[in-house]
Amino acid sequence: MARPSRKNCGGCHFYGGGGDGVKHGDLDSSLFDPARELDVHMAEEGGGFDCTRCHTTRAHFISGRCYKTPAFDERKSLIDDDMIERIACSSCHTETPHEPGSKRNDHTDKVACQSCHIPAFARENPTKMRWDWSTAGRLTEDGKPVVEKGEYGKHSYHGKKGSFRWEKNVVPEYFWFNGSLEYVLLTDKLEPSEPIELNRVMGSKDDPKSRIYPFKLHSGKMPFDTENKTMLSPNLFGKEKEAYWKSYDWDTALSTGMEAHGLDFSGEYEFVETQYHFPITHMVAPAESALECTACHADQARLAGLSGFYMPGRDKSGVLDFLGWAAVLGSLAGVLVHGLMRKVLGRKNS
Ligand code: HEC
Ligand code: HEC
Ligand code: HEC
Ligand code: HEC
Ligand code: HEC
Repeated sequence: MARPSRKNCGGCHFYGGGGDGVKHGDLDSSLFDPARELDVHMAEEGGGFDCTRCHTTRAHFISGRCYKTPAFDERKSLIDDDMIERIACSSCHTETPHEPGSKRNDHTDKVACQSCHIPAFARENPTKMRWDWSTAGRLTEDGKPVVEKGEYGKHSYHGKKGSFRWEKNVVPEYFWFNGSLEYVLLTDKLEPSEPIELNRVMGSKDDPKSRIYPFKLHSGKMPFDTENKTMLSPNLFGKEKEAYWKSYDWDTALSTGMEAHGLDFSGEYEFVETQYHFPITHMVAPAESALECTACHADQARLAGLSGFYMPGRDKSGVLDFLGWAAVLGSLAGVLVHGLMRKVLGRKNS
């Protein structure tokens, strides 16, 4: 029996959300036949992996999702047991994949492999970064939805769906992540703080199971019930004339949509800013494209948004910085200091 190929899995997973690269920034049709530069594992001239080389299956259960249970609970080696249910980079590469003594190995308990090895996502095809529903509804004179194309030949506006922004080569946002995402439900009462996080990244710097992990941050504008303080789910494509794609009337689309869910709608709504996080884990670049030290250890560098811990080079602190960077210069400074100490100690002892 043939194992499912990337065609099988990608046929669904590359087109989630209604098109190529709409949802995930690291799963799109460019992975059908990627160059090694795009994905070392799936490229023919790289590992030539199918999805199932990493997502091993046991009794139709596909390994590798972490959304409900933390990802880092069980770190077994694939060599020990090829049927593990939870995969991680370290399942194949170990937690210390770099040369012995490399400062990089000291990072893997805090910084996920993906953070350094996926310097940007959507490196080949663009991905949708913003979806603003509030502008939907513009129609041509003969009642057809207005359609406009922008950069990369992608829709920048569609009368049925609103305005979009597509981007390529996107630098991820980084968060402490324990492998779980918590999703907002239609019944959750929300403070219309700006923006509303439709899913939240769980984890913290104090949790030994959390790592700094890369994400695609998708932003949008979506309908919100200002009385009930809940998100709203419109009836978009129903057969009834109330469906948005027939009526282009939010009031009826929202009330019939919420009715279909058996949920209350006050009739009062506005469009609010939202955010959604997609973890980035595919499109691992060749080693020579991985992040160098100063991508993070500098002012205004990648981790500028994360606080509450000390990072040499980023956070200014005289002595600590000096000591930190003595270690950073690693091989060179390390050898020098070490040599010097040996000399000093050697003299003392002789
Ligand atoms: C018929 C469409 C379809 C095919 C084919 C398919 N999947 Fe899925 N897969 C889904 C849907 C739908 C979900 C659940 C919703 C989601 O997370 O996107 C899912 C969930 C997953 C998850 C968990 C994702 C999560 O967010 O929890 C993984 C991993 C996965 N699939 C991998 C694969 C692999 C590997 C293959 C090929 C062997 C494959 N899928 C084939 C539709 C499909
Ligand atoms: C080199 C190994 C590897 C390959 C090849 C691979 N994946 Fe994954 N995938 C992972 C890892 C690691 C995760 C994160 C799992 C976790 O944290 O539990 C993941 C997560 C996922 C998820 C969950 C959503 C997300 O983005 O986190 C989906 C869906 C998925 N993979 C689908 C696929 C599909 C489809 C393919 C083939 C086109 C594929 N994967 C190929 C390693 C791989
Ligand atoms: C199923 C085992 C497996 C998993 C899981 C896996 N890798 Fe690999 N990885 C390999 C193999 C085998 C190669 C060599 C591919 C080749 O022939 O180029 C490789 C190559 C690499 C390289 C390229 C090294 C070079 O010489 O340029 C990097 C970087 C890398 N992996 C990082 C990761 C990261 C990050 C993850 C998690 C997202 C991961 N790997 C998950 C098996 C795996
Ligand atoms: C702080 C950034 C950083 C982190 C974290 C990191 N790497 Fe690397 N990695 C690099 C850089 C830069 C290189 C290229 C230079 C080198 O080989 O040391 C590299 C090289 C590699 C190579 C090629 C090694 C070789 O000898 O050819 C593999 C495989 C690899 N990393 C896998 C991983 C895995 C798996 C993890 C997580 C357990 C990880 N890396 C975590 C930055 C990082
Ligand atoms: C992806 C971002 C990132 C990259 C790239 C990176 N670091 Fe770090 N580094 C961190 C973070 C985050 C911490 C703080 C982790 C902690 O609290 O232990 C840290 C801490 C350190 C520390 C202080 C703690 C210790 O382990 O001594 C040193 C020194 C250091 N890094 C050196 C380096 C060197 C050298 C490189 C390049 C080989 C490098 N870093 C690349 C993110 C990064």
